[in-house]
Amino acid sequence: MKITVFGTGYVGLVTGICLAEIGHDVVCVDTNADKINMIKQGKSPIYERGLDELLTKNLAAKKIVFTTDTIMGIDHGDYLFIAVGTPSSGDGSADLQYVYTVARDIGQNLKRHAVVINKSTVPVGTGDKVKAIIQKELDKRQVDIGFDVVSNPEFLKQGDAVQDFMKSDRIIIGAENDEVFKKMCNLYESLPTKIVLMDVHSAELSKYAANAFLATKISFINEIAQFAEKFDADVEKVREGIGSDSRIGYNFLQAGCGYGGSCFPKDVSALVWMAREYGLESPLFNAVENINLRQKHLVFNRLKKYFTDLEGKVIALWGLSFKPNTDDMRDAPSKVLLESLWRVGAKVQAFDPVAMDEAERIYGKRNDFKLCKTKEEALDNADVLVIVTEWDDFRKPDFELIKTKLQRPVIFDGRNLFSPNQMKDLGIEYYCIGRKKS
Ligand SMILES: NC(=O)c1ccc[n+]([C@@H]2O[C@H](COP(=O)([O-])OP(=O)(O)OC[C@H]3O[C@@H](n4cnc5c(N)ncnc54)[C@H](O)[C@@H]3O)[C@@H](O)[C@H]2O)c1
Repeated sequence: MKITVFGTGYVGLVTGICLAEIGHDVVCVDTNADKINMIKQGKSPIYERGLDELLTKNLAAKKIVFTTDTIMGIDHGDYLFIAVGTPSSGDGSADLQYVYTVARDIGQNLKRHAVVINKSTVPVGTGDKVKAIIQKELDKRQVDIGFDVVSNPEFLKQGDAVQDFMKSDRIIIGAENDEVFKKMCNLYESLPTKIVLMDVHSAELSKYAANAFLATKISFINEIAQFAEKFDADVEKVREGIGSDSRIGYNFLQAGCGYGGSCFPKDVSALVWMAREYGLESPLFNAVENINLRQKHLVFNRLKKYFTDLEGKVIALWGLSFKPNTDDMRDAPSKVLLESLWRVGAKVQAFDPVAMDEAERIYGKRNDFKLCKTKEEALDNADVLVIVTEWDDFRKPDFELIKTKLQRPVIFDGRNLFSPNQMKDLGIEYYCIGRKKS
């Protein structure tokens, strides 16, 4: 089938490449010429396991083409995917300008029937607006071309995006009639996945509901961690205790220094905004957001308490990406920590397995920020070690080396990677989140 994907970010690039991999004929359009040039050369601008190989393979097989030419994209596809960004505006609402631009472009240039599929995460009712925008542009051109608008929200996890696309738990399709459902099912026919059909509004809301639920689980366990600290209980034991209940499960119940990334923070904010805008009371999502903000400041507050004055202190930081297996630092807890430390005159020596370039892109070169080649180099003459991302590489470090290199044998662990008892035995002062004092 002929498919066009607008946007080659985490979602668009993975969607385009995976659709080519399952046999479709794909054109990917992005307004960012640098990005498109890089991808054309077989280099993925994002770190995503397995993506480079599939990109090279499908470029060579001519199953996928990358362009900045929007009209070429619209001419190509019978299925037009919108996978552009919907970042948070200042007031928490989703900024839909990129989605609407693509909709306008489609209306202005469509020459035959197409199914317009929204993969971006958008507030309920956006599909209706996309439909109205396209129709308005078609009316201006005085042409009678049919089109359908579908909501097909994306649930991939960064770091496992290719695997998630190829073997997702479900594909949600929100559409208005059976004919479109059939077309969409044919499109995904070769994927071994359950397809859930519903109306467009329910599909749009499903995406927010999924992210808000997972964010709520994280804030919930972080709230429990606070109780655990107060009453000298162990949040990891509590997790084991409640996670074994099949109604609850273990996932997204790790206490820590907060969730980040391009989705949970902005999608919870968008729900808070939607509630405000439409006169709903939504104390739950406000609380989820506030708890997360508190958690993101927790490590810094503990460092401040420990040192009183952080000016001139050197902090070794392990982890920059918002979670392991991605280079994405959008809304990452590391950014809150870095910026807080710099504000009070501390220096940071950081290491991350893949997000070093991204950190340099965001912050540039600074005297108070050293990007180190290894996690061991980050320890050199640092006062203490702080961990904010749970990369596997950090789970079994050489503790003797840590003790030798640090000025003080102290670890502030925002991800609860080690056991407090083990740290005590090793003679390391260990500050983690919600664990029982040893
Ligand atoms: N990142 C994730 O893990 C994830 C998961 C599920 C859903 N989503 C949602 O998917 C959407 C895209 O997210 P992302 O992380 O891929 O965003 P992104 O910011 O990584 O990429 C968006 C891309 O769209 C391009 N773009 C902007 N305007 C365009 C236009 N008019 N035509 C063509 N391209 C254009 C940008 O240049 C950019 O490359 C968002 O709504 C997001 O909430 C993201």
